[in-house]
Amino acid sequence: MPRKQFDASYYKRFYSSTPVHSRKKVALLANSVHSMCAWWDVPVRSVLDVGAGLGYWRDWYAENYPKVKRLSTDISEHACEKYGHEQHDIGTWAPSTKFDLVVCHGVLQYLGDKQAEAAIRNLAKATRHVLYLEVPTKSDLRHVVDKVATDLDIHARTGDWYRNRLSKYFVQAGAGLWVAKSSEAVLYELERTKK
Ligand SMILES: C[S@@+](CC[C@H](N)C(=O)[O-])C[C@H]1O[C@@H](n2cnc3c(N)ncnc32)[C@H](O)[C@@H]1O
Repeated sequence: MPRKQFDASYYKRFYSSTPVHSRKKVALLANSVHSMCAWWDVPVRSVLDVGAGLGYWRDWYAENYPKVKRLSTDISEHACEKYGHEQHDIGTWAPSTKFDLVVCHGVLQYLGDKQAEAAIRNLAKATRHVLYLEVPTKSDLRHVVDKVATDLDIHARTGDWYRNRLSKYFVQAGAGLWVAKSSEAVLYELERTKK
């Protein structure tokens, strides 16, 4: 597959009339994720947004929790220049220090299997407590996603493909939340899956 271009036309296509993620929806999600961290007594003092796109998560934290340290990254030169991110490929980069909360929202589907596997390792290196991860799976592509609003030029893998790799480093808590095994956060038995 030729290397995909995340240029101005990509963001225009997927973030204008029928946005794949709107600022309003991301605000609802960010509020919920932040509240779940608070429920688990996870102090969110730093947030890393990987593949930040238009930077909605970073902006939400800047507006609502300005004291939280924020780093937003993206592989796209265009997005980094226009929206103010550091340019990194999560397939080859991990930060030198951990972040309490790491967000990777709609990104891993753009990486091939080897790169996605490396990205999961890098996400694990980056996460002190909680990872929020959303990535459409084969099943989502058949049954869940809006085929007009969603970019279908992606790598489709099964949910188990992701679970098998993520579960080396994280406990799945549901709703996209993955708690680092090295975190001291304590979850009730039925707040998490068995693995
Ligand atoms: C569907 S957009 C999601 C943007 C944002 N996270 C959101 O939820 O609105 C996918 C983003 O992932 C970025 N991306 C793709 N491959 C990447 C990689 N290997 N490392 C970092 N970012 C990547 C793209 O440049 C693009 O901005």
